[in-house]
Amino acid sequence: MSFSLFRASVRRAATAPRAQLRSQLRIPLRKFSTPPPEAPVPTPKSNTTLYVGIGAVVAAAGVAFYSFSDSGSNAVKTGVQAAKVKANFVPTKEDYQKVYSRIAGIFDDAGDYDDGSYAPIILRLAWHSSGTYDKESKTGGSNYATMRFAPESQHGANAGLNVARDLMENIKKEFSWISYGDLWTLGGVAAVQEMNGPKIPWRPGRVDGVQTQATPDGRLPDASQGSDHLRKIFGRMGFNDQEIVALSGGHAVGRCHSNRSGFDGPWTFSPTTMTNDFFKLLFDEKWVWKKWNGPKQLEDKGTQSLMMLPTDYVLVQDKIFKKHARAYADDEALFFKDFAASCAKLFELGVPTEQWVSPEPWIMKNVDEK
Ligand code: HEM
Repeated sequence: MSFSLFRASVRRAATAPRAQLRSQLRIPLRKFSTPPPEAPVPTPKSNTTLYVGIGAVVAAAGVAFYSFSDSGSNAVKTGVQAAKVKANFVPTKEDYQKVYSRIAGIFDDAGDYDDGSYAPIILRLAWHSSGTYDKESKTGGSNYATMRFAPESQHGANAGLNVARDLMENIKKEFSWISYGDLWTLGGVAAVQEMNGPKIPWRPGRVDGVQTQATPDGRLPDASQGSDHLRKIFGRMGFNDQEIVALSGGHAVGRCHSNRSGFDGPWTFSPTTMTNDFFKLLFDEKWVWKKWNGPKQLEDKGTQSLMMLPTDYVLVQDKIFKKHARAYADDEALFFKDFAASCAKLFELGVPTEQWVSPEPWIMKNVDEK
């Protein structure tokens, strides 16, 4: 189903009480929403699930209070949460695990697309939906999934991410109760873990926002810049030098596309497996500026088949960045540990504490784990 058809069906599904609430509060009809849950009410099977359930209700109540005491647009969230509570549907960790497994199940449907996996672009969606956070104004981040809305969806940095959003829309149809922010970040977690990367601690609690919460252009990094730019952009999100280097290791997977960013090629020889090869290659290969009509990028002198962005290359030029990059090149376990911590922090940016359904993040199981 296209986005517009989906939108139409969501409108049709809007229940009378929600419509009344909207008109009472004078809230314009949302273009996207999390429709009321259709899934059956799961019975808590253990203390853990019961605990999670209670946590979710408390969180929902917290959100409701927060929303009613906040601006009109935030009150929209209240309708969604109220609908969930009213329908007595409280997703458990098992429910989220099912979503994880469903997402993981589509990675290999990629066929001839890129390197045969959708996992890298789904990781990129999770990162770009979180990396808009501004710690001063406390705006942006993964909470409201505002990349669903123009103009954010059309920002140059997000070119090509419609592929990932469309894939996620199919999952959303199956699990209509999950918020887009939870869905997209859980996608990032599944992508890293299923590409043999480390476990990324994750928990649900993000709520769907509205178009007015979309972030301005220019919050995501520009690959043609240097170390000052990286520090400014990631510092705004609340990351330090070590975390910037660890996160940049996300370029162990995936590739650049000349018809999206203008850059072209993969960073490593195994673009669908998480490794520390990105760092090893930065040190071990001789990197030269590529002679071509495209934007300035580097290529490995040996095979001319790999690439580095100017922002990747500064990781071995800047003295402080280089120290961390060296450590990650020498020790994959250290890279995995630091990447997992920074990635978990990234995916939680912009989410008020009271929204989390669990005081601690969860570890989701890989598909091949019992
Ligand atoms: C350090 C600043 C960063 C810059 C300047 C940057 C820039 C870029 C660019 C230009 C592309 C190519 C897009 C395309 O043409 O399709 C890309 C792809 C990608 N980036 Fe980054 N990125 C940065 C950080 C990150 C981080 C923190 C992560 C994840 C933790 C990440 C994960 C990815 C992935 C997985 C892809 C491949 C997507 C695909 O295969 O379609 N990047 N990035």
